[in-house]
Amino acid sequence: MPVPAPSADARAVVTGASQNIGEALAVELARRGHHLIITARREEVLNTLAERLRADFGVTVEVRAVDLADPAARDVFCEELATRNISILCANAGTATFGAVASLDPAEERKQVQLNVLGVHDLVLAVLPGMVERRAGGILVSGSAAGNSPIPNNATYAATKAFANTFSESLRGEVKSSGVHVTVLAPGPVRTELPDPDEQSLVERLIPDFLWIDTEYTAKVSLDGLERNKMRVVPGLTSKAMSTASGYAPRSIVAPIVGAVYKKLGGD
Ligand SMILES: NC(=O)c1ccc[n+]([C@@H]2O[C@H](COP(=O)([O-])OP(=O)(O)OC[C@H]3O[C@@H](n4cnc5c(N)ncnc54)[C@H](OP(=O)(O)O)[C@@H]3O)[C@@H](O)[C@H]2O)c1
Repeated sequence: MPVPAPSADARAVVTGASQNIGEALAVELARRGHHLIITARREEVLNTLAERLRADFGVTVEVRAVDLADPAARDVFCEELATRNISILCANAGTATFGAVASLDPAEERKQVQLNVLGVHDLVLAVLPGMVERRAGGILVSGSAAGNSPIPNNATYAATKAFANTFSESLRGEVKSSGVHVTVLAPGPVRTELPDPDEQSLVERLIPDFLWIDTEYTAKVSLDGLERNKMRVVPGLTSKAMSTASGYAPRSIVAPIVGAVYKKLGGD
């Protein structure tokens, strides 16, 4: 069975739904008629989004304000998910830090691992038994092109995204015959809209405009890819070319080149 069609008691879960890619995934799922559980830390932002989705698409939207980097809070959420009929999980929430690990706050680096790695792994493990039993379900993991190669000055993020990419692509092979679809979204730079040039962050200024892909398009191709059980979705031609290049180029050559670029993002 493919990714289940919307039904009254089934829920599609989106983590990191309060902005950007996660918000766009929630909107696109609602547009396709799925009832939702949306989560992030900022409850008031989620409540506003939930109101909008109920009004625009007539779907049920449940809001869960959860800090997924907090193991105790994550456990409570996973316990709930394990008891629910979860048709789709978009394990999307993730954060990044830039700069040399030795110069960064160790507590923030640990939180990043908690969120980007265990915030994916624990949630997948919570919903997977139900999906396998029902022989239906879809898991979309937000990995990254950053997980394809070593990135000095973005080390924790690159390593967590290598986990996300590899876990998703490995799991897909295990559950293929159980009717559960697993797809990793591994984009290059994605943003909701072009910001005012005067208000661009250093990351936005260093990445040329033609490389950016918008969130609405990303959400659409990701969910279409999940429907078709694609192994990996890389939105945009340029991202595809860069992703292929980074997959084949020797890691010892790629690392110093991207490391020099990311050094600038760390503020050096
Ligand atoms: N945008 C890109 O260019 C790009 C490229 C490649 C991969 N990705 C990956 O795609 C995913 C989404 O990217 P994005 O750019 O849309 O991210 P974003 O704009 O930074 O949003 C991150 C989302 O995660 C939530 N979040 C952050 N910390 C959290 C925590 N401790 N617990 C629960 N939720 C938390 C945030 O909501 P609250 O602040 O309300 O908690 C927010 O909704 C990430 O995994 C990212 O690594 C993005």
